[in-house]
Amino acid sequence: MFTQQRKAGSGFGARSTADDVLAGIDLSGRTALVTGGYSGIGLETTLALSRAGAHVIVPARRPAEARNALPEAEVHALDLADLDSVRGFAADFLDTGRTLDIVINGAGIMACPETRVGPGWEAHFAVNHLGHFALVNRLRPALADGARVVSVASSGHFLSDVRWDDLHFRGTYDPWLAYAQSKTANALFAVHLAKLGLNAFAVHPGSILTPLQRHVPREEWLALGWITPDGAPAPGFKTPAQGAATAVWAATSPLLDGRAGAYCQDCDIAEPARTDDMLVGGVKPWAVDPESAARLWQVSAELTGLDLFS
Ligand SMILES: NC(=O)c1ccc[n+]([C@@H]2O[C@H](COP(=O)([O-])OP(=O)(O)OC[C@H]3O[C@@H](n4cnc5c(N)ncnc54)[C@H](OP(=O)(O)O)[C@@H]3O)[C@@H](O)[C@H]2O)c1
Repeated sequence: MFTQQRKAGSGFGARSTADDVLAGIDLSGRTALVTGGYSGIGLETTLALSRAGAHVIVPARRPAEARNALPEAEVHALDLADLDSVRGFAADFLDTGRTLDIVINGAGIMACPETRVGPGWEAHFAVNHLGHFALVNRLRPALADGARVVSVASSGHFLSDVRWDDLHFRGTYDPWLAYAQSKTANALFAVHLAKLGLNAFAVHPGSILTPLQRHVPREEWLALGWITPDGAPAPGFKTPAQGAATAVWAATSPLLDGRAGAYCQDCDIAEPARTDDMLVGGVKPWAVDPESAARLWQVSAELTGLDLFS
């Protein structure tokens, strides 16, 4: 399962920005879709892809906010917690007859209070994983030959494999384990899409202070090592532009040809994790296990009623 977790030698690193990675790459005529592309890492992803010439579509839970942030982007309403919304967005897109060259599944929530969506699904699993599972399935007819699909996962996956016996936390709820499970699911989603023939990759963007942390009380940030005593981002944290770099690298680098399913960080393929330090990163075995990926696909297909790749 770790066979392809070997560095590709990109020459980029933790401090590279999305613009560094895209320098000299012309995405004119290409169409990209970036979920969550109007906040934090996703906003920088959208801006960098646009500067490189791509037409970027931003599906947004809050379209008015997205249009304010990105007056020139193509914004549509999409709530990943609502499979009818996913169906409607995808149907409208398919009706246009356009194709997608890049799909970046960047939207996400982290460490939220216990929240149920749809038929009682745990919200991290539903939004971060099942919503994107449904979206990519629905958009399948629009994926161009060779299209890249990038799951924005996280080293948060270190904290939990998929909880096969309690996916929706019917027992005790833990917001960090809920986030961790969903991020393992993001990585496994890429592994199985690759098995199905897609150029799919998962990325850990790094640690970046963004609105994602809004559910964690500010007083805890110092204890968690996110900020220094004077309130600055801790050493090792990235800027949002650096955080966007690995996703755009995974979406465009020719070094990843033939390496579909790889989990990436710092603009290269990640190596197996040698420590539990999430800031150091790497990938744990359960996040790239093909059997788990196939099992998760089956479970997700049953839950959503969608399996449009077979
Ligand atoms: N920041 C980090 O340190 C870090 C580290 C590792 C991984 N990541 C991953 O990176 C991705 C982006 O995070 P970020 O830090 O840029 O966070 P962010 O600024 O909060 O952006 C997340 C985006 O997801 C959107 N979203 C949330 N729920 C949604 C839903 N139901 N339907 C549609 N869109 C929804 C948000 O929309 P609203 O603005 O409307 O809420 C927002 O645009 C996430 O997947 C996160 O897990 C982040």
